[in-house]
Amino acid sequence: MKKITIAIDGFSSCGKSTMAKDLAKEIRYIYIDSGAMYRAVTLYCLQQGIIAEGKIDEERLKAEMAQVKISFQLNGESGRPETYLNGTNVEQAIRTMEVSHQVSPIAALPFVREAMVAQQQEMGRAKGIVMDGRDIGTTVFPDAELKIFVTASPEIRAQRRYDELKAKGQEADLNDILENVKQRDYIDQHREISPLRKAEDALLLDNSHLTIAEQKCWLMEQFNRLTQSKESQG
Ligand code: DC
Repeated sequence: MKKITIAIDGFSSCGKSTMAKDLAKEIRYIYIDSGAMYRAVTLYCLQQGIIAEGKIDEERLKAEMAQVKISFQLNGESGRPETYLNGTNVEQAIRTMEVSHQVSPIAALPFVREAMVAQQQEMGRAKGIVMDGRDIGTTVFPDAELKIFVTASPEIRAQRRYDELKAKGQEADLNDILENVKQRDYIDQHREISPLRKAEDALLLDNSHLTIAEQKCWLMEQFNRLTQSKESQG
């Protein structure tokens, strides 16, 4: 079967990654979490003191950008890809609230986006890839055969994130999380380069009231419809 490119964009904490990961596993495609790449750059800045007291030393980051090597490797046990920063597994370290708080301004820097988009396009060159993020259908893969834009209300997304943190035994404040979700939505939608928006040809999926199983079913329908109609077209 001919392989296609699948772009999944949408707001933070709306379950994009889970759905993209599951889909990739089911159809045996490569999965790339582009948000993890921006998080890894942010972690690098925190570790190297490039962000201090909330201020970013842009000149220094620009000079060091070529030294920030991000890659993904499959975890043999879980079968899931994990994020590596300069050879070190940072899959857990990039998911902390500290990184979540700092990542949006880093992801808004033009030279950071340029470097990440170039790497992402290289990863997708052979197709057979599911990539999730904010600008995948608009900037990274504007020719993707299947584009999905996922959304859910901020309250529902904050509640899901709260439940996730609690389930991991971490302290969490629902109001704090809701504020963080709203703040990131605003920055992501209003930044100058590649703001978060639905590509005209993307399918809209509001999953506020869908179960994971219902969502998966919908997604497989879209994939099958597309790949089967491609097969019959020859
Ligand atoms: O999906 P996430 O929450 O892990 O993304 C982290 C941050 O990176 C978020 O602030 C949006 C940004 N991002 C982006 O600007 N472009 C992407 N393709 C993916 C994520």
